[in-house]
Amino acid sequence: MSKRVALLISGGGSNMVKLVESMQGDHPARAVLVGSNDPEAGGLKKAAEMGVPTFAVDHRPYKGDRAAFEAELQRQLEEAQPDIICLAGFMRVLTEGFVRNWEGRMLNIHPSLLPKYKGLNTHQRALDAGDDVAGCSVHLVTPELDDGPILGQARVPVQAGDTADTLAARVLVQEHKLYPAVLRRFVAGETAPLILD
Ligand code: GRF
Repeated sequence: MSKRVALLISGGGSNMVKLVESMQGDHPARAVLVGSNDPEAGGLKKAAEMGVPTFAVDHRPYKGDRAAFEAELQRQLEEAQPDIICLAGFMRVLTEGFVRNWEGRMLNIHPSLLPKYKGLNTHQRALDAGDDVAGCSVHLVTPELDDGPILGQARVPVQAGDTADTLAARVLVQEHKLYPAVLRRFVAGETAPLILD
């Protein structure tokens, strides 16, 4: 019986597309739902074109009432009964209560070599610090933001003349390789970190 995977996005969903494309053939999991906090998220259309059911819960009408927003998110997710949730460019910070519901089976991709540069603007911060290597990380989601056990990392050398955008573009290429590889291992029960160089 293949594992059921729900994916949450906020934007274009390029990581989501790579994950959904990877869950074919003999892959032990299938994408069963793609959700977003933005009804206009470009990734929703891409998911629908790939035949994956979608939903959106617009966070704005909740005016900061995170519990109410998350209650609706939870209700939509539970309808699809996912075994695993992949956050793929999902930009809402989730409360401890919501995370506890899915603890140990919710993954996230973050565009830095955690524990460095939790939060936003990771590439600019790596450049400002003069780092010679940047990258991305897939981790289990815990109540602390960008803090859970690391399941995989990909290292990306910083090049002379890099801007946050040029670096982000090269890191995204690695994200698209790392996340599907880590998900496949995770579904097979393998949680030792995968390191891509
Ligand atoms: C990615 O860089 C991801 O690491 C970050 O948000 C970006 C989302 O990109 N959390 P996409 O929506 O998957 O294209």
